[in-house]
Amino acid sequence: MLKIIFIISIFKIVSASASSCGIMSQSSSLIVNGEFSWQNEFPWMTIISRKDNGTWSHHGSGSLISAKHIIAHALAVSYVDLSSQLLPISPKRVKIYLGSVKYGDMREQGSLHMTVSNITIHPNATKVSNSLSVNKFAIIKLSNAVNFTEFIRPVCLWTFSHNMEEIIGRDAYIVGYGVNFKGRETLTRKYARMTVTNSSACEQIYSNELKFENSTSSRFFCAIGKNNEGPCKKDNQLFFKVGNSWHLRGILSTVVYLENGSCHVKKPVLFEDIVGSVKWIESVVKDEENVDV
Ligand SMILES: *[C@@H]1O[C@H](CO)[C@@H](O)[C@H](O)[C@H]1NC(C)=O
Ligand SMILES: *[C@@H]1O[C@H](CO)[C@@H](O)[C@H](O)[C@H]1NC(C)=O
Ligand SMILES: *[C@@H]1O[C@H](CO)[C@@H](O)[C@H](O)[C@H]1NC(C)=O
Ligand SMILES: *[C@@H]1O[C@H](CO)[C@@H](O)[C@H](O)[C@H]1NC(C)=O
Ligand SMILES: *[C@@H]1O[C@H](CO)[C@@H](O)[C@H](O)[C@H]1NC(C)=O
Ligand SMILES: *[C@@H]1O[C@H](CO)[C@@H](O)[C@H](O)[C@H]1NC(C)=O
Ligand SMILES: *[C@@H]1O[C@H](CO)[C@@H](O)[C@H](O)[C@H]1NC(C)=O
Repeated sequence: MLKIIFIISIFKIVSASASSCGIMSQSSSLIVNGEFSWQNEFPWMTIISRKDNGTWSHHGSGSLISAKHIIAHALAVSYVDLSSQLLPISPKRVKIYLGSVKYGDMREQGSLHMTVSNITIHPNATKVSNSLSVNKFAIIKLSNAVNFTEFIRPVCLWTFSHNMEEIIGRDAYIVGYGVNFKGRETLTRKYARMTVTNSSACEQIYSNELKFENSTSSRFFCAIGKNNEGPCKKDNQLFFKVGNSWHLRGILSTVVYLENGSCHVKKPVLFEDIVGSVKWIESVVKDEENVDV
């Protein structure tokens, strides 16, 4: 019954004004104790598909932040050069699925599949160790603007205080299409609740990674999954609900793995904070919009 209502409403194209970011339609509630997301929940979530050696495969997820731009973990769309800088791969090797809860399933009504015209990696994106990169933000530009619908809408960037203390103790949601905590790749949009903690737990667990970094305290924050739910590998974006709108705040850096390669959901997870890069993100989006005129 609910599904039928959703399908009818895709044809209702919503306004694309900047003030309408971060809105999730009210027609359903989040699935209690569940992890699977409805198509109208987290409608800014996109799936990145990348071609390597002739084969397309899932390379994580990104968040729609304008009608043409997606923010993603830089490693999804870059390679590491000899000086450890992250550089963009060819846009021809990247495809984006929008409005879709299942990777590659184009039978879902309201889903879209788009090519990419440009990839911009943060100029200071660097791999500092095998498990840690810094400034690992990529902006993917779609070949064409999308029309916003109930299933395809942008998320807001963080426009509030940059003070990390203010998010400690708050709940957030991690959303992705990656591997579940049992190590099985689901390729289906799922979410998990997390609570931001102070950084001391992460400083102990990730001391090996963080020793490469000089000013960890402002760049990273630490969060722990609730109800034994948590992110794994390619599940990588963390959102906060502030008032009625959802805001992107963190990109996953590192999780603890069990010996069998599954993710240890009881351990805190390290996130890179995007607040220091919001001005850069806005400048790239603005410049590229000017290029189109
Ligand atoms: C692509 O092929 C090359 C050469 O066989 C190999 O070194 C590389 O790891 C492959 N890349 C991927 C992502 O499979
Ligand atoms: C593509 O991105 C680069 C930065 O990576 C930027 O200099 C260039 O203007 C962009 N081109 C277009 C057509 O948006
Ligand atoms: C990159 O690092 C340089 C040197 O620290 C700094 O001046 C510049 O603002 C940084 N770029 C961005 C986009 O943050
Ligand atoms: C957006 O809507 C316009 C007008 O209906 C249509 O021409 C265009 O193809 C749509 N764009 C996409 C990406 O679906
Ligand atoms: C890995 O080990 C954990 C804990 O022992 C277990 O719960 C999980 O199912 C295992 N995953 C796989 C893929 O075997
Ligand atoms: C961080 O949290 C732990 C556990 O709640 C607490 O013992 C510790 O004092 C806190 N550290 C700081 C710097 O607030
Ligand atoms: C941290 O500082 C050391 C010494 O000043 C420097 O060699 C290293 O490159 C710095 N690391 C980063 C990630 O900036």
